[in-house]
Amino acid sequence: MPKTNNIEKAVKLIRKAKYGVAFTGAGISVDSGIPPFRGEGGLWSSVDPIYLEIEFFNKKPLQSWKVIKEIFYDKFSQAEPNLAHKILAKMGERGFIESVITQNIDNLHQQAGSKPVFELHGNYRQLVCTDCNTEYDSSFADLNFLPPSCYICKGILKPDIVFFNEEIPHFPLKRSFEEAEKCDLLLIIGTNAEVHPANAIPVMAHKHGAKIIEINIRESYLTESLTDLFLCGKASDVMGEIGKKLYL
Ligand code: APR
Repeated sequence: MPKTNNIEKAVKLIRKAKYGVAFTGAGISVDSGIPPFRGEGGLWSSVDPIYLEIEFFNKKPLQSWKVIKEIFYDKFSQAEPNLAHKILAKMGERGFIESVITQNIDNLHQQAGSKPVFELHGNYRQLVCTDCNTEYDSSFADLNFLPPSCYICKGILKPDIVFFNEEIPHFPLKRSFEEAEKCDLLLIIGTNAEVHPANAIPVMAHKHGAKIIEINIRESYLTESLTDLFLCGKASDVMGEIGKKLYL
């Protein structure tokens, strides 16, 4: 659990900030039952990331879809926002943060009520046709028959998430960079912040003078270089403590 004085310091920084922004990664959803990508128990230790490479998907969509369905659609659809997502949403409502930038595709920030949420890696709940670009809510597709196909042109549908070697969608990236430059506090929760270009966000915020609070179960490479205040612990525990002190 985090040291109380650190929670108090964090709460002071949050209260003092004029423009707070949250930047989240897989670690915030671990307490919702979604595994992280890297490290012990991480997805990439049991699943070959090749299935999420765009070249592989384009060549062998059925093979990719079988894996994607199991890891994302069968598991994510059961997950609920945890206390960390909920406190973040309340912080948004009360004006302590202005936006959430996330690398997660699990839709849990939106389910908790955060807005706006800038999704750098897309959202598994949306599907897009690889031929005519029509977008669908995933509930429209019957994933018992893979790969799912477009109702309009019969093209293959792809989850609207950013595969490896695919570009990050322009709008959320642009808005995230603007938020990183504008914020005077960046609350980083549960990310290794290693993946490009999302890893530029803490660097930009720091360069523009923002204070950096980092919440993680272990130190990341950011901790030494950029972080002003490190809160060691599970996202839901630490955010729960912060929420109490902010009377949320
Ligand atoms: N609370 C807080 N932090 C946690 C918790 C927890 N309960 N559990 C794990 N963490 C931390 C880990 O210590 C690690 O720093 O969350 C981080 C998860 O790191 P990654 O698995 O690398 O996830 P992330 O940083 O979001 O990855 C970025 O990489 O593979 C791509 O597209 C994928 O969006 C993903 C991107």
